[in-house]
Amino acid sequence: MVSKKVSNIKPSLTLEITAKAKKMKASGISVIGFGAGEPDFNTPEYIINAAKHALDIGFTKYTPASGMQELKIAICEKLLKDNGLNYEPSQIVVSSGAKSSLYHAICAIVDDGDEVILPSPYWLTYPELVGLAGGKTVFVNTKAENGYKITAEELENAITDKTKCFILNSPNNPTGAVYSEEEIKSLAKVIEKHGLYVVSDEIYEKLVYGGAKHYSIAACGEFLKEHTVVVNGMSKTYSMTGWRIGYIAAPVEIAKAVSSMQSHTTSNACSIAQYASVEALASKESEKFVAEMQRVFDERRKYMMKRIDEIPCLKYSEPAGAFYMFVDVSGVYGKAYQGQKIDGSLSFADAALKKGVAVVPGVAFGNDNCIRLSYATSMEDIKEGIDRIAQFIKEIN
Ligand SMILES: Cc1ncc(COP(=O)(O)O)c(C=O)c1O
Repeated sequence: MVSKKVSNIKPSLTLEITAKAKKMKASGISVIGFGAGEPDFNTPEYIINAAKHALDIGFTKYTPASGMQELKIAICEKLLKDNGLNYEPSQIVVSSGAKSSLYHAICAIVDDGDEVILPSPYWLTYPELVGLAGGKTVFVNTKAENGYKITAEELENAITDKTKCFILNSPNNPTGAVYSEEEIKSLAKVIEKHGLYVVSDEIYEKLVYGGAKHYSIAACGEFLKEHTVVVNGMSKTYSMTGWRIGYIAAPVEIAKAVSSMQSHTTSNACSIAQYASVEALASKESEKFVAEMQRVFDERRKYMMKRIDEIPCLKYSEPAGAFYMFVDVSGVYGKAYQGQKIDGSLSFADAALKKGVAVVPGVAFGNDNCIRLSYATSMEDIKEGIDRIAQFIKEIN
């Protein structure tokens, strides 16, 4: 009999749609996938070479559970340079991917019954991790007209005497929302007033467009720095999703707790991937690589917006970061495609699959009016995929 805690975990809807699309492709049907959650770029060669070097010199054994010292130093330098944050290596814990960092950090903050405020739409992993830690997620619906960003007032209204923590994800998956420095500062005031902790997931920080700038809430003064766990990693910035390197920067007490928890769960992250991550963070070539990836994503983002503007019934709030568009498709709800009624994001996604396009239903992220389209796929596929969506919408009646 599976434990209650684990049997409460919902299977990932994103994976379900991807599996369906894969099955169709395997049987020879053409399907354009808008589901990708990872950059469609290869890991740069200089990072791969660093990993080869790690193997050649036998860097293939355990490292300290919290990560190798050189990587922690490189992370501290990055945080100072990019985010104006001054951390000691003892405040850094390297994990097997940011997902693992998030799980350990949430466990280190949340006690049974504690409430954790999460703006919705949200990345679907957060509530599952909060649940595993024994906490209760309090969802706060954000508004499209506010760019799907929680306001200070909305945050304040959701706080009770059980609230322990607030999860902030900017740039955001699935909406692409990026909070400005001013918006972050107004949320920080509420956090400080109520003495809360923040888990700030900044994994998409380098993927911002159209003048948007990433600002870390940990930079809002001493109180916030002492109450924030910054979560980041190599996956999205350096196109290293398979290497599994994430990290936290946290107050010493939390870093210590995460490190000892991790020493019993996963122990250290892969030594070879850690070694290569030092190169990714320190190499001058990284700036060029990231700038080029950002340029390509921005080109696709602009193209998608232009095309979707031309399709009746579809609306969106301009995404300024990550590589997703969150598109409101509720304008066609109540109508039908080939006799199949569309009354929510799941039936929309199901019907779109018949037209050869795989999209992720927004209900997976807490908003049933929308679908998520990823532009981490080739321009050629984006063009063809949007053509199909336009035709699909036309055929709905
Ligand atoms: C918002 C967000 N945080 C964290 C992650 C996980 O990153 P990692 O590959 O480092 O576990 C993802 C991956 O999709 C994400 O979208």
